[in-house]
Amino acid sequence: MSTAISPVKIAVLGCGTVGTQVVRLLTENNSDLSARVGGSVELAGVYVRDTSVARDPVVPVEALTSDAEALIDSADVVVELMGGLEPARAMIIRALSAGKAVVTANKALLATHGAELYEAADAAGADLYFEAAVAGAIPLVRPVRESLAGDTVTRILGIVNGTTNYVLDEMTTKGLDYDEVVAEAQRLGYAEADPTADVGGHDAAAKAAILASLAFHQRVTIDDVYCEGITEVSAADIAAAKETGHVIKLLAIAEKADAGVSVRVYPALLPLSHPLATVRGAFNAVFVEAEAAGELMFYGQGAGGAPTASAVLGDIVSVARHVANGGRGPRESNYARHDVLPIEGAQTRYAVRMSVHDKPGVLARVADVFAKHEVGIGSVLQVPDADFASLIISTHRASEGALRATIDEVRGMDAVGEVLSVLRIEGE
Ligand code: NAP
Ligand code: HSE
Repeated sequence: MSTAISPVKIAVLGCGTVGTQVVRLLTENNSDLSARVGGSVELAGVYVRDTSVARDPVVPVEALTSDAEALIDSADVVVELMGGLEPARAMIIRALSAGKAVVTANKALLATHGAELYEAADAAGADLYFEAAVAGAIPLVRPVRESLAGDTVTRILGIVNGTTNYVLDEMTTKGLDYDEVVAEAQRLGYAEADPTADVGGHDAAAKAAILASLAFHQRVTIDDVYCEGITEVSAADIAAAKETGHVIKLLAIAEKADAGVSVRVYPALLPLSHPLATVRGAFNAVFVEAEAAGELMFYGQGAGGAPTASAVLGDIVSVARHVANGGRGPRESNYARHDVLPIEGAQTRYAVRMSVHDKPGVLARVADVFAKHEVGIGSVLQVPDADFASLIISTHRASEGALRATIDEVRGMDAVGEVLSVLRIEGE
């Protein structure tokens, strides 16, 4: 006598840019996905706030429900694609506590309440997968969490926010206006529901926290990440970057230093020859350095409905295999206890753009202040402009603390009109 295997039931919470594409792929590719899982997979329902709102035709109207709890309770796999902290957190906890597998793309939630979610998953022996939470379609979470689990990751450097890369790229290559490009990124489905999370650097900071946690085997939350966004990057900064052979990119950096780990997000200058300098539009690219593996590079579409849905579907297949055939994915590894360093301890190079009086001796006096704070000068570019000269001073590696003390003193000098911008230089 044969026993029929029940279908693996998938509940989708949220039906926006990503949720719609997940439902489409789950429906269109159902027979292939079921074959890969080793048992049939079916859409249990799609939770939305208002079932009367018109949806994309790829979403079956009969699948919509506004009863999240009943949907979660009826499913084997819960796919959270609403975003935000609540009610996403409570719904995921409900699912995990009942032993259901959870797939989420919600980096803000993971970087804020990750510990609670992992503990609920462990307590119930349930899967918690989140490939889509970092760098859209790019397989990055799985390589860092699983493939490199036997190695020692020392550094991660990358572009992990599609919206800001798109905005900086359009401003750099087409000279377009900031507000206009942000609105287009929203229209294209790259930006978060609230785009200040993107342009303020918080989305990249959440991703940096997730990557640092996985890479260094310890808990790093979004509050541990130093974060600057791109809102202060001006057309003049972009033009000055071109003058010195650089491009500005919003970078996420997680690195091990002697005293602990440093995790930070900021717009930085990259030399045009650096591979990350060539990353265009909403694409993401991430370098991972590990002691034995050396340098690895991951590249692909970092945002958008279909690319992100690809990563979500990969997770759905993984956890559905466990539901159908038994087993469980990797648990959280958080045994390490490195200090998370304040930004003042981070070491990098800087480009300081300032206007100074165009008189003999001024450059020497400015250089003296840099020397006093032990910030070495690598090069100086001077552009004359009436009574003032615009200087771009590129430094050698120095601590953020030393650089800040230098800038504070330079700002007080009579010979200095204004410190126009300070940008870090990475990748040289
Ligand atoms: P979105 O287009 O804003 O869609 C979110 C959906 O969730 C909407 O249908 C929204 O409903 C629903 N929703 C929000 N709060 C809800 C609530 N309290 N109750 C019920 N439904 C609620 O967002 P998205 O771009 O698809 O992003 C979804 C998740 O994927 C987020 O965590 C995001 O960070 C992540 N992500 C997005 C991308 C991307 O490129 N878009 C890439 C990677 C990861 P309404 O229509 O009623 O507002
Ligand atoms: N808003 C995010 C971005 C979506 O622009 O990268 C992908 O996580």
